[in-house]
Amino acid sequence: MSDEFAQPINARTRYCAVFGHPIKHSASPAMQNAGIAGLGLNWRYLAFDVRPEDLRSTLLGAKAMQFVGLNLTVPHKLLALEMVDALDESAKNWGAVNTVRFEGRDKHGTWLPLHLFEDAPPEKIRSQGFNTDADAITRSLNEDLKIELAGTRVLVLGAGGAGRVAALKLAAENVGELFLVNRTASKAGSVAAEIRRRHLNVKVQLGYPRGEVDLAINATSLGLAPDDPLPFDGKQFSLRQAHAVYDMIYRPAETPFLRAAKASGSRVANGLGMLLYQGAKALEIWSGQPAPIEIMRAALKQNVYGI
Ligand code: ATR
Repeated sequence: MSDEFAQPINARTRYCAVFGHPIKHSASPAMQNAGIAGLGLNWRYLAFDVRPEDLRSTLLGAKAMQFVGLNLTVPHKLLALEMVDALDESAKNWGAVNTVRFEGRDKHGTWLPLHLFEDAPPEKIRSQGFNTDADAITRSLNEDLKIELAGTRVLVLGAGGAGRVAALKLAAENVGELFLVNRTASKAGSVAAEIRRRHLNVKVQLGYPRGEVDLAINATSLGLAPDDPLPFDGKQFSLRQAHAVYDMIYRPAETPFLRAAKASGSRVANGLGMLLYQGAKALEIWSGQPAPIEIMRAALKQNVYGI
């Protein structure tokens, strides 16, 4: 959907945004502005390159400017847990924040989405953190790779905000065995400990698998930049061991990781489906309305593939 469908910007326009570092690759503005226009809202969705040391002050800035909400991406999803004023169950459960909604307190003491206070701003404003990644990951794996997760063996590369949520969600879907690898091994260790505590039936190991896995997922940021190395150690793991490979990165649409996986015969999918479903859920959390998924999907495809 092009800009001609968007409401003109005026003094009543409300803003949402994505904060990340890097951010220039993000397709969220194209997708969310199409969704916003599809819902007929006088909102705009922006993107800001926010360094981790500036996250706290920029969250406060967005709150003071009465933004509708935010998405957070690399490297903010874990940091934000400690910085928002309240956490929804989803953020508590998955231990990462990828969506923030700003809320105002009405005269009965109820917190409501800030955009509902059109004429009289509320006395108090808070930020609430949500996680919409977890459901988006499994929905995209099911749709894009046709994987039934129960009982499978899965390698998760990365244990930052996205990797942690992926591993916990896969365990909740009753995968049989999880292998966790991360540059900072202690972070993979704490995700493994959390899974052992919550899911006694799921085997979880640190390090690369011997033998085959049904699925390998890249949840690191390696692949966003053109000269990044592959996100795994080729001396310890070969893509020939993986039946299916998923990269949470969607730009470039085919990372070197996915290209290598395809060449070794794996089924592959990039992170476009995950981006779509986490974004649609975020728009629902902000607006209280069902997201126009097909409009958002078309805008994403146009933005990433030019079709
Ligand atoms: P997000 O919230 O999007 O997951 P993040 O929490 O910063 O972002 O996580 C980024 C992931 O990419 C982490 O697993 C990170 O590894 P560390 O936990 O060791 O930081 C991984 N990553 C980033 N740069 C990397 C690099 N150069 N080599 C290996 N892993 C890297």
